[in-house]
Amino acid sequence: MTDHYPVAVLVSGNGSNLQAILDAAEAPGYGAEVAVVISDRPDVKALDRAEAAGVPAAVVDWSMMSDRDTFTAAVCDVAEAHGARALVLAGFMRVLGPSAIARFPDRILNIHPALLPSFPGLEAVGKAVAHGVKVSGVTVHFVDEEVDHGPIIAQEIVPVLPDDTEDTLHARIQEIEHDVYPRVLDALARGRLRIDGRVVRWEEA
Ligand code: GRF
Repeated sequence: MTDHYPVAVLVSGNGSNLQAILDAAEAPGYGAEVAVVISDRPDVKALDRAEAAGVPAAVVDWSMMSDRDTFTAAVCDVAEAHGARALVLAGFMRVLGPSAIARFPDRILNIHPALLPSFPGLEAVGKAVAHGVKVSGVTVHFVDEEVDHGPIIAQEIVPVLPDDTEDTLHARIQEIEHDVYPRVLDALARGRLRIDGRVVRWEEA
């Protein structure tokens, strides 16, 4: 058994990665539990998923905030109020300010639909297809001060097929995301991830 490891999952849209984590957390012995889902906007499917799972949800509305630091503080306040020990960014479309890293040091995860450091930023899947790469994939990494840049925890390869469009490739990438992200979160919750400079080492379970 692991210690109690509550997390906040941050979302902006569909929330299929949130759903994968919620489903994984149903299994006996899973390391983490979703204490709260936080969205930067109202009326997104991810909030419906939280409600269906009986998990608290909150909207910290980006459009109502004066600046990034105020927004970041509000998100961290909500997460801490629910006892979260880590932030899990799952399709979250905002960049958190540095205070988030100070409040959750080495405890913010992000998932990106490409093999970083290739294709950071927005529209990564479309850029990979347009570039003509033959393989792309999924990266889960710790968040640092730069976008899509922190130490890489896990990567999985997804081949790019000759007729792939952004949509078809993204669909296959998402299937992999839904497997890898819950596994990484479980490892974080069990204290298995050790950061050694830029290198993340997986320790024995
Ligand atoms: C995922 O492809 C993730 O890699 C990217 O945004 C997408 C979110 O999908 N950061 P969902 O909201 O989890 O369905």
